[in-house]
Amino acid sequence: MAKLRAGVLISGRGSNMAALIEACRAPDFPAEIGLVLSNRADAAGVSIAQDAGVPTQVIPHSGWPSREHFDRAMSAALRDARVGLVCLAGFMRLFTPWFVAEWQDRIVNIHPSLLPSFKGLHPHRQALEAGVRLSGCTVHYVVDDTDAGPIIAQGAVPVQAGDDVESLSARVLAVEHQVYPLVLRWFGEGRVRLVRQPGVPDAVEVAGLPPGGTVLWRG
Ligand code: GRF
Repeated sequence: MAKLRAGVLISGRGSNMAALIEACRAPDFPAEIGLVLSNRADAAGVSIAQDAGVPTQVIPHSGWPSREHFDRAMSAALRDARVGLVCLAGFMRLFTPWFVAEWQDRIVNIHPSLLPSFKGLHPHRQALEAGVRLSGCTVHYVVDDTDAGPIIAQGAVPVQAGDDVESLSARVLAVEHQVYPLVLRWFGEGRVRLVRQPGVPDAVEVAGLPPGGTVLWRG
C-alpha cells in the first residue's frame, strides 16, 4: 500500500522532526516524510533533515504582503510535495484561518503540556508554577485556535521535586519523541478518525484502541 506522505513544519531545533524521520526509516513504517519545510533558513532541523536525505524547503515568513500570502506559499509547497498530513513540530508561526481550513483534518501539532492545560508559550514554566505533579505532551488536530484542537494522544511524565524548566522539558521531550511517531503510524495505518457529533466536542477515535485511547507513560 502507498505510504502516507507527511510534511513536517519546523522553525528550530527539529528533534521531533528527527524522531519522525527516524521512525520512517523502518521499511514497514506506513508513512514517509515528503518534505521538511521551515520558515527559518538557520533552523538546526533543516541541516538534520538534509543530512538524512529528506527533501527540505525554506520559505521565510517575512517580506510577504500579508500573512495569508505566506500561508499560501507554504500550502503550495506542501501540495507540490504531495503531502497528505501536515505535522507541526516546533513551528513558531500562527496560521491564518485560510491555511487551517485548507488543511482541515490533515494537520496536527505537538505541544509540550497535557492539554488543555498550559496552552501557548512557556508551558513548562506554567506547569511548574501551577504545581502539577504530572506533565507531558499532546498531539492534537490543529483548529483555528492555539493549542486547542481535538486530542489524538498524550504522553505523561512525573514532575519531580526540584525540577526546573530545563529538567522538566528534557523529560517531556523524551516522551514527545515516542508519541509523535506513534501518532504518525496510526495515521499511516488509516486508524485515526475525527468524530463530529452535534452538541458534543469533536473527538478522536483510533481504530483498535478502546475509547479514550492510550496514554504513554515515561516515569
Ligand atoms: C517541542 O517541545 C514541541 O512540543 C513544541 O516545540 C518544541 C520543538 O522542539 N511545539 P523540537 O524542534 O522538535 O526539538
